Amino acid sequence: MKFIIQGKKPLKGEIKVSGSKNAALKIFPVALLTREPIRVSNVPEIEDVLRAQEILIALGHEVKKIKNGVLEIRFRNQKGFDLPADLVNKFRASIMFVGPMLINLGKVSFPHPGGCVIGAGIRPIDLFLDAFKKMGAKVKIKDNHYELTAKKLKGANIFFSKISVTATESLMTTTCLVQGETILKNCAMEPEIVSLAEYLNGCGAKISGAGTPTIKIKGVKRLRGGKYKIIPDRIEAGTFAMLAAGSANVEVLIKNCDPAHLEALWQIFDKVGVNYVLSKDSIRILPSKKLLSCDITTHEYPGFATDLQSPYTVLMTQAHGSSLIHETIYDRRLLFADILTQMGANIILADPHRVVVNGPTKLYGRKLVSPDLRAGVALVMAALLAHGRTEIDNIYQIDRGYEKLDERLRGLGADIKRLA
Ligand code: EPU
Repeated sequence: MKFIIQGKKPLKGEIKVSGSKNAALKIFPVALLTREPIRVSNVPEIEDVLRAQEILIALGHEVKKIKNGVLEIRFRNQKGFDLPADLVNKFRASIMFVGPMLINLGKVSFPHPGGCVIGAGIRPIDLFLDAFKKMGAKVKIKDNHYELTAKKLKGANIFFSKISVTATESLMTTTCLVQGETILKNCAMEPEIVSLAEYLNGCGAKISGAGTPTIKIKGVKRLRGGKYKIIPDRIEAGTFAMLAAGSANVEVLIKNCDPAHLEALWQIFDKVGVNYVLSKDSIRILPSKKLLSCDITTHEYPGFATDLQSPYTVLMTQAHGSSLIHETIYDRRLLFADILTQMGANIILADPHRVVVNGPTKLYGRKLVSPDLRAGVALVMAALLAHGRTEIDNIYQIDRGYEKLDERLRGLGADIKRLA
């Protein structure tokens, strides 16, 4: 499937932000830890979330659609020890099922999880494996396939040598039902982690410190079910804000979001000279006088999100001056900048972690292929700001994380079509 985009259309109107992909993906494995149903609302209809539901169903559990955006998920009978390879290959957060399976069955087997190719080589899972080992699990690795066994996991003191959102969430979730106390140190602090911890505590878990670098979990015997409302997707909100900020003829209201989750972006917007107004749950973007260049360095939350680096790189092609973009989390995430140069941008790749964008430059429509999710959406943004027609192939990558992006952007007046 492809997007066909005719750029330079004025953007006017309102756009709603969906539920957070990276929060949604973490709730499905929680269904394995309670025998009561969980009613999840504000569920984004995106490919990765559909794959997470398919894993739950393949394992023998139930996913019932109540209405659009609302699902009821429920533990049934656990079928086998194997996580389905074809689904695990599709997204990295599938690793969230490992801990709950180990708790339920004492054994789990799975291939190396998939996801965006944004790191050199395969994205490692050593933090997860080391933590499970520390809690008493045995780990066998053969031909990129893992088998974990543990009669009973025990609470442990775990220091993450790198900050990882999913490793923090996986261990925080699993240890809710592990005997004794677990202390997780050097944790990620993203809002999605706080939201998950609040939900688990509502179900009877004893988690303290989520949102800080040290999280303590006291194991309990069982968890209840309940209602979970997925928080708004801060990456989607920030991406829409940058798309609007880069457009000359604009008046856009981005609704159903939480601007408090994007403080690092607002501080940069002030330096760049973007004309924006925030409310508790919306962002209004108005025409800016002149955009100025500004350097960024990506950082774990609450710093500037790596997931917003690609749209920011596009935005800087429209700003006056030179901006240094320093990507510190992933070593292949800046390579997409080469595609922007094909569109007319003036970008110098200093090394895999740093590019210099010299602006402003005109961008021109081209035939492109989306390399991954966040680079893909940045190419959509570049195409909307470009002169002429752009074709973007491999949009499954974009559909993995953005619900009906074409339909929603058309609502703002963008000229974007989907071709099968
Ligand atoms: N890492 C290890 N070993 C591990 C796990 C991670 O060395 O066992 C390293 C990675 O190599 C990387 C860093 O730790 O340098 C973080 O990596 P990871 O892939 O674990 O990322 P994460 O923190 O779980 C989440 C989001 C990412 C987002 C980052 C921001 C999910 C499912 N993914 O990843 O989202 O970029 O936080 O820090 O929540 C996306 O949505 O496009 C995306 C990639």
